[in-house]
Amino acid sequence: MIDYNDLAQKYLQHRRVHPQVLKELVKSSGITNKSQVLEIGCGTGIYSIAIQQQVPMKCWAIDQSEEMLKIAASQSSTITFLQGRVEALNFEDNYFDFVFSVDVIHHIEDIIPYFAEGFRVLKPGGKICSVTDSEEIIQNRRPLAFYFPETIDVDLKRYHSIYVLRARMQQAGFRDIQHTQVEFPYEITDIQAYRDKIFSCLHLISPESYQNGLSRMEQDLLDGPIKGNSRYSLLWGTKKARIVFV
Ligand SMILES: C[S@@+](CC[C@H](N)C(=O)[O-])C[C@H]1O[C@@H](n2cnc3c(N)ncnc32)[C@H](O)[C@@H]1O
Repeated sequence: MIDYNDLAQKYLQHRRVHPQVLKELVKSSGITNKSQVLEIGCGTGIYSIAIQQQVPMKCWAIDQSEEMLKIAASQSSTITFLQGRVEALNFEDNYFDFVFSVDVIHHIEDIIPYFAEGFRVLKPGGKICSVTDSEEIIQNRRPLAFYFPETIDVDLKRYHSIYVLRARMQQAGFRDIQHTQVEFPYEITDIQAYRDKIFSCLHLISPESYQNGLSRMEQDLLDGPIKGNSRYSLLWGTKKARIVFV
């Protein structure tokens, strides 16, 4: 089990917003400066902070990790950061216009309460977005799948498939369910984030496999930057307003 309290400082040092994920979250959520937004599993809060810089709305963000939240609160005084678990949200019904998470749902074994709670706290017409990796993305991650091939099986078992996620969203009551993908090609000149194991799958492979991948990265870096391509799946759903016939 990964303890995110131990990773908080390393997240602050290495984790950055994915520009295309940010762009999609702002554009497709339809939020305005009158919106109320909730991020679940916010970590150090990078996404809430970046979204609020573009659209100055009211924002709440929760995480289970106290250390992540301490860092998040030190980065923004205009977001309400709260400790909590995604399976039991401490908010009233019909409160938010937009609920989102980035890289969180693969940590949640039972996603039925995750979607049920998301649905409950959204206003009618509100949207949810879960940013995750599809099976195809897991199999082709650059550089992870290339240098650490053991991560493929580990994460195919750990991540919920897009098919299952869509079905659970439908069961929770979401409609207009849509799956979009984004990518961001980049060059890696420093592999400290891999040494610091900020990618949770690196904690779940054998030490030999991890060392082997790291040595290959170090070797390849001698010839120049390593090519990376960060890809994500975004799963969107809407809590439809009920039409009442009188
Ligand atoms: C991979 S990190 C992503 C953090 C942040 N969303 C980001 O993109 O930088 C996953 C986060 O989810 C949080 N988390 C995992 N399971 C959770 C749960 N059941 N309830 C609340 N937070 C959870 C962890 O503490 C961690 O901060």
